[in-house]
Amino acid sequence: MMAENVSLETIANEVGTPAYVYSAATLTRHYQVFEAAISKMDALIAYSVKANSNLAVLALLAKLGSGADVVSGGELKRALLVGIPANKIVFSGVGKTVDEMRDALTADILQFNVESLPELHALNACAKELSMTARIAFRINPDVSAGGHEKITTGKAENKFGINIDQAEAAYAEAANLDHIEITGIDMHIGSQIDTLAPFKTALLKGIELIKTLRAQGHNIRTFDFGGGLGIPYSENENTPPLPELYGEMISKATQGLDVKMIFEPGRMIAGNAGILLTKTIYVKKGSVRNFIILDAAMNDLIRPALYDAHHNIEPVKFSNNGAPTQIYDIVGPVCETGDTFAKQRELPEIEAGDLITIHSAGAYGAVQAGQYNTRPLIPEVLVSGDKYEIIRARPTVEDILKTEHIPDWV
Ligand code: LLP
Repeated sequence: MMAENVSLETIANEVGTPAYVYSAATLTRHYQVFEAAISKMDALIAYSVKANSNLAVLALLAKLGSGADVVSGGELKRALLVGIPANKIVFSGVGKTVDEMRDALTADILQFNVESLPELHALNACAKELSMTARIAFRINPDVSAGGHEKITTGKAENKFGINIDQAEAAYAEAANLDHIEITGIDMHIGSQIDTLAPFKTALLKGIELIKTLRAQGHNIRTFDFGGGLGIPYSENENTPPLPELYGEMISKATQGLDVKMIFEPGRMIAGNAGILLTKTIYVKKGSVRNFIILDAAMNDLIRPALYDAHHNIEPVKFSNNGAPTQIYDIVGPVCETGDTFAKQRELPEIEAGDLITIHSAGAYGAVQAGQYNTRPLIPEVLVSGDKYEIIRARPTVEDILKTEHIPDWV
């Protein structure tokens, strides 16, 4: 198996395993597919940095013209560092701190997506201190159920996100009275890994209605940030998410004549299937009821199966299709928890210790959600383009981890 024109075996030998491997060509293709899908609208793509925030990935997307959706001061710094223009950056998130607001105001970002009235007032105060005006959209929670898993749905009234749609008019009226706030639009993000158009459509129509109401009340609504959330195929057996083209067409039709600039915050759609986790088999253990492939990657490197019961396709790097014998395996990591399981009861060609394995669809919410549980250093990230590749985040050593800790004299 190759990543573009580079053999995964070469990467494993030279970089070591486990490692994340991303394809520049696939990142580019996904970006351009999305761009084409929304090309009939006046629209900005603000890539959702949280999906994969590696500087090289951001730099590549910046070069393609992408803006950024950031949710922390750290992500803002990344976006600015790779040269994403401030007027293409939106700042989302329920708990922006005053320090983060100050940094984003100073950078003069396009828009704050404000999620509560206390946040609105904090932002107004912060902007006043800097003698600036903050451009805002309220994130509206449309009370629509969507998303692949309970832990990643965001658009229901009981979720922590946004202003409930029935409180929106009052919120806009309050914002209009503040001297250092300029209302520019509305914002929504209803969930992630959404695999049908229906919830998008329901939310979109609610948003369009709201824009009309707000305009009738005298607010100058110019942008409609529709968030991210478009799902990607993780396996052949799941629902196939709608093609970006259909998503774009639906939105373009519904917003025709509305005279708003659309903002989209895709994350997974761009990065998810542009990356794999490359890992090596440490042992194959034949139990009395199950066979286990024990990998050198673990839940701390890719937490999605443990956290969301997420399915990832798993394949050996070397395999032949000509009827090689197969086995049913549980595929697990070495961390001391039963939850450290990537997949149960998967049929794979017979695997031996030392065999390289790929875990697919790991480009989004993989490396960014990694941790160092069990004192396992973060794993490297590699970017491939054609026949070249480079390490875009180095593997820290255990010493690097230990250096940050300190034993007080009085212990
Ligand atoms: N905009 C906002 C405000 C968001 O909160 C998110 C994702 C996105 C955009 C991008 O959504 P996407 O296009 O990637 O679906 N860790 C979970 C996913 C959490 C998504 C959080 N918000 C997972 O691994 O499935």
